[in-house]
Amino acid sequence: MRKIAVFASGTGTNFDAIQSAIENGLLNASIELVVVDKPEAKVIEKAQAKNIKTFVFNPKDYSSKEEYEKVIVEKCQENGIETIVLAGYMRILSDVLLNAYPNQILNIHPSLLPAFKGKDAIGQAFDYGVKVMGVSIHYVNAEMDGGRIIAQRSFDVQDGMTRDDVEKEIHKIEHELYPETLKKLLEENV
Ligand code: GRF
Repeated sequence: MRKIAVFASGTGTNFDAIQSAIENGLLNASIELVVVDKPEAKVIEKAQAKNIKTFVFNPKDYSSKEEYEKVIVEKCQENGIETIVLAGYMRILSDVLLNAYPNQILNIHPSLLPAFKGKDAIGQAFDYGVKVMGVSIHYVNAEMDGGRIIAQRSFDVQDGMTRDDVEKEIHKIEHELYPETLKKLLEENV
């Protein structure tokens, strides 16, 4: 069983999707730790409700990214973490985490990369008027939303779809694609 950590900053719907896949027996994994950089994030309560350990920190309490990442690496190692799953963690990683977990850090991004990197990818794509939108899962490197793509899923933007509609569709795809992709990776022992 693969021990994973989920890093999040927000509502944690992807955390929920992965945890449900584990509970339903789809994923042979266990979320041993949830790392959160926003003390008010909803994902904290969700993790606690499942009796999953959390490490909540405020980056402003540290002198640098390297300093807080050292603490994160320690927490991950103490909990036997093998794979890190970023799900709405909005920070670029430094070499401290990248070198501690080479090829074992994944991210989900709500666009068809390499288009629309960074914040509000859904809004960027919607405002541009793209006719095909989607979700990407990729390995994480030192670049924002960089790293080799592992999986993508797209959908056609129908005439009349609002921003809310496309957002709902993106999240629906995310909640299917993240567990499915993790399952493939774990089975292939990547
Ligand atoms: C997702 O849309 C993900 O693609 C992006 O941040 C969002 C996180 O949502 N990186 P949630 O916290 O999992 O609900």
